[in-house]
Amino acid sequence: MAFSFFKKNQPSEKNNNDNNSIPEVLPKHVAFIMDGNGRWAKKRGMPRKYGHREGAKAFHDITRYCRSIGIKNASFYVFSTENWKRPKEEIDAIMNLLWEYLNDCDEYLEQEVRMIFIGDKSRLPEKIRNRMIELEEDSKKYDKMNLILAINYGGRDEIVYAARQLAEQTAKGELNPESITEDMIGQHLYTREIPDVDLMIRPSGELRLSNFLIWQCAYAEYYFTDILWPDFSRNELDKALIDFAGRGRRFGGV
Ligand code: FPP
Repeated sequence: MAFSFFKKNQPSEKNNNDNNSIPEVLPKHVAFIMDGNGRWAKKRGMPRKYGHREGAKAFHDITRYCRSIGIKNASFYVFSTENWKRPKEEIDAIMNLLWEYLNDCDEYLEQEVRMIFIGDKSRLPEKIRNRMIELEEDSKKYDKMNLILAINYGGRDEIVYAARQLAEQTAKGELNPESITEDMIGQHLYTREIPDVDLMIRPSGELRLSNFLIWQCAYAEYYFTDILWPDFSRNELDKALIDFAGRGRRFGGV
């Protein structure tokens, strides 16, 4: 059955929890590891793909909320380089959801959201790859929010890719190894136009980064919660933002 991300259950942009208010200082870049879809489905006796579908709904609501409160960069871990190890049925279900989503993105464009897909596109089905490139082109003029979707993404893979490009320039004599800087490596990552992550959010009780934006998270603040991703709500994001606003960030200084 066709599934629309935008036509059902659209809550108002306001958060219903009057006890929470959005802090004035917002992170410039929030990254989300959308974990716990499988457990959410299992708890209900449903197949894992059902959890991913509910996770996709939560994803949609949180992206709209980020746009409405003024988060400038929001990254989401959709599919990792390691996720190919999952059963084919589950991979197909995630790819189908992705395909539906990619064909239902008008609202993002109307909201002047720039869409950026990070990861190795070459292993993805051709129609998905082409649609991703098209959306990147169509939205590159927008600057209200960068929506960054990591698909076939791995942090180590990304660093290897950057290292290879720099090594090629060195082999051609165009670059002196001594002159390689952190900035230069950053400029060869998929996220070259995006600021480093300020706040990394992982639901589902797992306390790890799982190869997501490992370079970009060098000074990120982490927020973990036991809530499973399909239940991750606007109020949960408010809590994370309030927590973030109260942290003292020193970036190695005093
Ligand atoms: C991790 O939960 C989740 C994934 C590997 C897939 C994330 C995909 C979506 C939220 C849906 C597709 C998104 C879009 C943008 C259309 P898990 O399955 O590892 O959960 P578990 O740890 O409980 O098993």
